[in-house]
Amino acid sequence: MSPSSDFKGIKIFDDTTDNMDIIKSLIDIEEREAGFYIMDIGDIINKHREWITKIPRVVPHYAIKCNPDPNIIKLLVALNTSFDCASEQEIRQVMQYGVQTDRIIFANPYKCPSHIKYAKKMNVSQMTADCELELLKIKEFYPEAKIIIRIRCDSKNSVCDLGLKFGCEPDEEAVRLIRLTLDLGLTLHGFSFHVGSPCGELYSYSRGIGICRRLIIIAKSMGCKDVQLIDIGGDIPGEKGTNIDKFANIVNDAIQDLDPSIRVISELGRYYVDSAFTLATFIHSKRLVRKDNKIMRMYYVTVGTYSTFLEEMIGMKSRAPQVLFES
Ligand SMILES: Cc1ncc(COP(=O)(O)O)c(C=O)c1O
Repeated sequence: MSPSSDFKGIKIFDDTTDNMDIIKSLIDIEEREAGFYIMDIGDIINKHREWITKIPRVVPHYAIKCNPDPNIIKLLVALNTSFDCASEQEIRQVMQYGVQTDRIIFANPYKCPSHIKYAKKMNVSQMTADCELELLKIKEFYPEAKIIIRIRCDSKNSVCDLGLKFGCEPDEEAVRLIRLTLDLGLTLHGFSFHVGSPCGELYSYSRGIGICRRLIIIAKSMGCKDVQLIDIGGDIPGEKGTNIDKFANIVNDAIQDLDPSIRVISELGRYYVDSAFTLATFIHSKRLVRKDNKIMRMYYVTVGTYSTFLEEMIGMKSRAPQVLFES
């Protein structure tokens, strides 16, 4: 079997071809020791269609930190997706494909001044913040920005508790920040949260939406006229065979009677790309080690922890490899 075309180093195979056969044929072509990925474009398109069909009111923004491969960005631009960028570099990356600025959210609550200045220059005005100092920074470098206050809403049993890193407490602290946006003459645009990863409790999304709804009412009553956004964050799983129906029901229920003037968005990372990528790597060495009186086999591969297997190291995920060639 040979690829049907080869475009700038990209080899395109028919959708009906099995992944393992594709990998074997690529190895035949180049005798590879280095690892490589194959990407299933159809899988990403299906994910996008599934989301907009099942949760039509929540506009997906691809969190490019998850996988910034230009082919994914180009594909999602073609599908009219919006983007979550965490830095100047990520904003540059998506803007080179002609993404309009209102389809980008600068969703990093802690930003370098130069990145805020770049966002201002490019007119990327939606940005998150979760503390006084960040609001003061935005006031100094981009006073016209549309502020989204990120609140803390942790799901139970998350391995990666993002609430420790980002997000103000959703009660007095959030109200204090609303008051500060008014005092500084900033524009409060909405509220966001991220439940942590992996989400151990789907109802954390309805809890987060409920808090945002309550804060919107409070903000309006305090005089914030432009508050109009709820951002439900990410951590929606994207592994093969994942069914998002239960999640969709919970989110749709939580927003069903929401005022139509409120926009709802999400920041999807792994949902879009998890199942679309298959890694092929070469086992170059092996040895036996003793642990707790048992003998274990260790395999050494040509793809390292930091490029691919970080989630294994921090206990978030484990993968079961499939053997391609027996030796
Ligand atoms: C603020 C924020 N949004 C979105 C994401 C997207 O990733 P995922 O959907 O894979 O959690 C992350 C991941 O760390 C994040 O920190």
